[in-house]
Amino acid sequence: MSTLTAHGACLLWIPELIWLNAVSDALLAIAFFVTAFVLGFFVWRRRSDVLFRGVFWIFAVFAAFCGVSRLLSVATLWVPAYDIEALVKGLLALISLGVTTALLLMLPRLLVLPTRVQFAQANAALEEEIRHRRKAEAMVKRFQEIEANEAQVRQAQKMEAIGQLTGGVAHDFNNILTVITGTIEILGEAVQDRPNLVQITDMISAAAARGADLTRHLLAFSRRQPLQPRNTDVNALVVDAARLLRPTLGEQIEIESMLAHDSSLALIDPSQLSTAILNLALNARDAMPDGGKLTLETGNVVLDENYPSMTSEIKPGNYVMIAVSDTGEGIPGSLLDKVFDPFFTTKEVGKGSGLGLSMVYGFVKQSNGHIKIYSEEGHGTTVKLYLPAVDGVPDAPAADAGIPAGGHGDESILIVEDDALVREYVVTQISRLGYHTMAAGNAAEALAIIDGPERFDLLFTDVIMPGGLNGRQLATEAQKRRPELKVLYTSGYTENAIVHHGRLDVGVLLLPKPYLSSDLARMIRTALAS
Ligand SMILES: Nc1ncnc2c1ncn2[C@@H]1O[C@H](COP(=O)(O)OP(=O)(O)OP(=O)(O)O)[C@@H](O)[C@H]1O
Ligand SMILES: [Mg+2]
Repeated sequence: MSTLTAHGACLLWIPELIWLNAVSDALLAIAFFVTAFVLGFFVWRRRSDVLFRGVFWIFAVFAAFCGVSRLLSVATLWVPAYDIEALVKGLLALISLGVTTALLLMLPRLLVLPTRVQFAQANAALEEEIRHRRKAEAMVKRFQEIEANEAQVRQAQKMEAIGQLTGGVAHDFNNILTVITGTIEILGEAVQDRPNLVQITDMISAAAARGADLTRHLLAFSRRQPLQPRNTDVNALVVDAARLLRPTLGEQIEIESMLAHDSSLALIDPSQLSTAILNLALNARDAMPDGGKLTLETGNVVLDENYPSMTSEIKPGNYVMIAVSDTGEGIPGSLLDKVFDPFFTTKEVGKGSGLGLSMVYGFVKQSNGHIKIYSEEGHGTTVKLYLPAVDGVPDAPAADAGIPAGGHGDESILIVEDDALVREYVVTQISRLGYHTMAAGNAAEALAIIDGPERFDLLFTDVIMPGGLNGRQLATEAQKRRPELKVLYTSGYTENAIVHHGRLDVGVLLLPKPYLSSDLARMIRTALAS
């Protein structure tokens, strides 16, 4: 039996004192327990981002023990359990020792924690840095754009330079080919009874024809071929092309056409567009040796400043777009800006001349259009042609068909040609057709003959002649003196002398070099009859 008395006895059991103590201690106990709970719960929920977690836990335990000691104080008012109270107090003293030590250890670390002001400053610095970074990024983007633009300009300049070179080569080559093509015909007729020689002349004319084909492509690339643009129904042309391509592409390649029903007319030379589509389709076929799909697409497109590849070379406006796509092997990115270069080919020797895309490029540019190639290695290629759209009705096909073949005559023809070899050949050819001929090496010589007494009916002149007047100016002068004079032009290529904006001037008759003597005969009759 304990000899201790309850704490209430010390207070003489005065009810006010007893109850004031009891209620106060109970409230304190509740406050301590709530504090312990809040601290414990907080650290448990935020365990990943709370600093000094251990200290929080010690505080929570400390508060809990404080609560328990307050409850014991209430109990000891009536029950003399001082041993338990002392035990709890001892524990509490130990814990408070831990708390104090922890607080003291924590103090230096607490002092270096950033204040709210420091946080605000750090935030401001961060925002400033983000602003700088954004500015730098914008600048890099702008540089990249400038670089891309410069690359485009460089590419255009390169194409222009190669164009001039190939144009010059093609021009001189055409003169040579004109002589070879024409004379080999004469030779062929002369050796008809000697089969071994006929075989040789055939070989020479086949080689010359190949040369003519090459120079035609070179001229197309250098944008110097005489075009005969017409208002062309592109859909009809694509349908025709698809039909003609069927046997060429073979069974393994599926052809799909997706034509815009409202596709506008395009102002282009239809025969050249057919050739361009053929070239693109042949490339597609070669890129799909195991078969695949060729898609021909048409549509109306407006190119304006929103068009990503807009350059000063492209006039904003309405275009008819023709896209030729394949599911072939594609083109590596590093080769993409080379594919339009003349003679660039990845095909084996003898398989490709590397002039197909060059021709398409030159034709599109000369037609005031725009060309774009997209390709992904292993997936396929799309070439998009943007051709200038026009209002109106489709033009009738070229009048060429109506011109009778062959023909002789006894009229007089004045031949003006600066290249002696070609001049000699043309004189021989025209004389063989029965005509009377006169020849001049330049405009001045020709005008001297025109001013003379001789009668003649046709002026057959080269367009580009060095020194003095060109063919066009000569014809104008000649017709001033002899208004009834007929004119036929010939040229290896035509600059602006008779071709304006890529379109042959109205009423101009042109025989492009090199030509067969049958073409020459036919065009002379056409000119004399005009
Ligand atoms: N649709 C395509 N898919 C994959 N590569 C292509 C495609 N079109 C063009 N190329 C690549 O571009 C190169 C140049 O094409 P281009 O048509 O100018 O010449 P080519 O086809 O080699 O010869 P050719 O004068 O007979 O047309 C090709 O050799 C090929 O490497
Ligand atoms: Mg090709």
